[in-house]
This record gives sequence, C-alpha cells and structure tokens, in this order.
Amino acid sequence: MVVAVDGPAAAGKGTLARRLAAELGLPHLDTGLLYRATGRRVLDAGGDPRDPAIAEAAARALLPADLARGDLRGPEADAASSAVAAIPAVRAALLDWQREFGRRHGAVLDGRDIGTVVFPDAPVKLFVTASAEERARRRFRELQARGVAADPAQVLAELQARDAQDSRRAVAPLVPAADAVVLDTSDLDADAAFAAALRVVRARFGG
Ligand code: DC
Repeated sequence: MVVAVDGPAAAGKGTLARRLAAELGLPHLDTGLLYRATGRRVLDAGGDPRDPAIAEAAARALLPADLARGDLRGPEADAASSAVAAIPAVRAALLDWQREFGRRHGAVLDGRDIGTVVFPDAPVKLFVTASAEERARRRFRELQARGVAADPAQVLAELQARDAQDSRRAVAPLVPAADAVVLDTSDLDADAAFAAALRVVRARFGG
C-alpha cells in the first residue's frame, strides 16, 4: 500500500505524511530530503547546483546518512534542492531508490511527483496545498521558532520563486495527479488537515 502526498513547499505535507504513516503503521519517506541532501553535497563540493554533471554525481553518491544531516533546511538548502530537482539525470538517479522504498513494505511518501511519476498507480493520492501567503506565514513562524532571523516579505518571495521553479520545470513538474484528492489547508490547522486526509484514506480503503 502506497500513499502519495504531494504539494508545494510549506503546505504541511511533511507533518501530514508523518502522522498518516504512524496511523497506518507504514514507513514514511520525505522525498524532499533526497533533493536537499543532493543539493547540500554539491554546495559542500563548491559546485553549482544547476550543473547537471556535478548534481547527478552527487545524487548517485548519496548515502542514507546524508538524509540525517542537520543542515538540510534553510534558504540556501531550499534553493539548491529546487535547482538540482530540475535536472532530469538527478531525478532519474533518485527514482529507483524511492520506488524500492515504497515497494518493500508499502509507505507514505511525500514530495512533488509521487502521484504523477514515482507511484502513478498509488491507490491513495493527496495533493496538499495552501495559499502562498499562508505557506509563507507558516514557514516564517517555523524559522522564528528555530531562532533563525528572517524577513516575512523575503520568505514569501523565496517561496514563490521555488513554486515557480518546481512548477515550470520540464521534468516531473509540481502538478496534482488527475486522480489526486486536493486538500487545501489554508484554513485548516494540522489536526483538521490530518482528520481530512484520514477520511480520504479510509474512504478509499473502506474503513
Ligand atoms: O519538500 P521539500 O520542500 O523538502 O523539497 C525540496 C525541493 O526538492 C523542492 O523545492 C522540489 C524538490 N522535490 C522534487 O522535485 N520532487 C520531490 N518528490 C520532492 C522534492
């Protein structure tokens, strides 16, 4: 059983996917971490995350420990992850890994293209979204809570830039699968979003 949870940055899909996985007794994979860790490896090597050869090599060299690094979030990592994610060879390098993870025991995977590319036959697909303003507010509060200085207008601008890059790229762009249930969480807190997602899953599996 695979549950696909896709959506734009800071829509709350990570929290939602983690809670769904715990509820359903399935492993959870945050696929954004694969792109983040790839971008981080390129930055560490002093490379340009838009360089296809360097980024592909970084993706192929990924180790599980890379996904547990503490420096995968923040504006620099956000931008680098979105840049490497636009490179077809990077996506190809990470595809088998994601499929293998999901096939082994079933899983809840969250990302941008789980329902469209990675598991197009997933029985449950959620597309979790919220207005850009609300997502920027959430991201700003998250940065504040971590003690990171940030400017709300800049957080919104960076989020919109990443949305544009993730949505307009030629390979696996961010778009809801035709059979995804769209969950707009603009006016929902985390508990309400979780309850709504669970209803979708239960309806699909008949309780
Ligand atoms: O979900 P996230 O914000 O951690 O993802 C970081 C970047 O990785 C995002 O800007 C786009 C890319 N990504 C992707 O292209 N496909 C995925 N399945 C997951 C993430």
